[in-house]
Amino acid sequence: MFRVAVTADLHYGPRHQDGADATLALAAELYANPPDLLLLAGDVGAGEDFDRCLGMFADLPCQKALVPGNHDIWVRPDDPRGDSLAVYRDYLPRVAAAHGFHYLDADPLVLPDVGLALVGSMNWYDYSWAADRIPVVADDWQDRLRTKRFTRGRHNDANFVRWEFDDPGFAREAVTTLGGHLRQVLRWVPAAVLVTHHPPFRGLNYPKNEPLDLDGLLWEAFSGNVGVEQLLAEFGDRVPLAFCGHTHYARAATFGATRGYNVGGDYHFKRLLRFDWPDGAVTATEFGTAGEQVA
Ligand SMILES: [Fe+2]
Ligand SMILES: [Fe+2]
Repeated sequence: MFRVAVTADLHYGPRHQDGADATLALAAELYANPPDLLLLAGDVGAGEDFDRCLGMFADLPCQKALVPGNHDIWVRPDDPRGDSLAVYRDYLPRVAAAHGFHYLDADPLVLPDVGLALVGSMNWYDYSWAADRIPVVADDWQDRLRTKRFTRGRHNDANFVRWEFDDPGFAREAVTTLGGHLRQVLRWVPAAVLVTHHPPFRGLNYPKNEPLDLDGLLWEAFSGNVGVEQLLAEFGDRVPLAFCGHTHYARAATFGATRGYNVGGDYHFKRLLRFDWPDGAVTATEFGTAGEQVA
C-alpha cells in the first residue's frame, strides 16, 4: 500500500493569516501522519513565500512533488528572478529541489516499485474551452481575451504574468511537454497519476449556471485547454486519477476512465486529500474555517 496526500492553493503569505494558520495545521497533520508521497498542485506562494511555504514540508519523511500555479510565476517588472518564464524554468525548480520537492513540469516522478508515475504540469489556458461561444456574445472578444478584461476588472495574470508567450503559445508548449512525459512513463510503468494546477478537463472547472454570461465565458477561456482533454482521451485508460487546484472549489468528476479531483482549498481554509494507491478511496480533510462554497 502506498499512501498519497494531495493539497493545492496554499497561497502562503502574510496577506492571509488565517490561511497561513490553516496551512500550519495541515502541515502538522502531515508530520503527525506522514504519507509516502506529498503532492502540491500549485499556487504555493508568490515571490519568496514559495520558498517559505515549501520549507514547512522540507523535513517530512516522504517523497514530495509539485507543480507550480499561475500565482507562483507572477513577477514585477524589476523582479530580480527575471520574467515569468525564468521563474518557471529556473527559480521555482531550484527552490523546489532545495526543499526536496520533485518539479513535475520538468520531469515525471517514476516509482517503479509502486508501478506508478506522477506526471504534471502547471497547465495553461488557450481560450479553447470558450472559443466557439465568446464571439457570439461580445463584439470586442479578441480585445477582451488579449487584455484579460472582464465586464468588471481584469484577470491578475494580465498584470503579473510577464513572458514572451501568448497564452495559446505557452499552453501548446505545456501540453506538448506533458504528452511527452506521459508517453515516456507509460513505457516503464503501468499507470500514471496526473497533477495539474489549471484543471485538466472541464468537469473540474468552477461550476457555473448555463448559459454562461460574458464573464462566465471569459473564465472558461482562462481556465484550461482541450489539449489535455485530448491527452486523456488518448492515454486515460492508464491515468486512473487526476488532481488539480486553481478554482478554489472542491469537485470530483470523471473524464473517460480518469477520475479527477479539484482539491478546492481557498485563501482562508485548506483541504488535504488522501488516498492509498492503487485502489483506496479519496478522502478530504479541511483546515481552517470553510467558506460556503465548499462542495
Ligand atoms: Fe489559487
Ligand atoms: Fe491559480
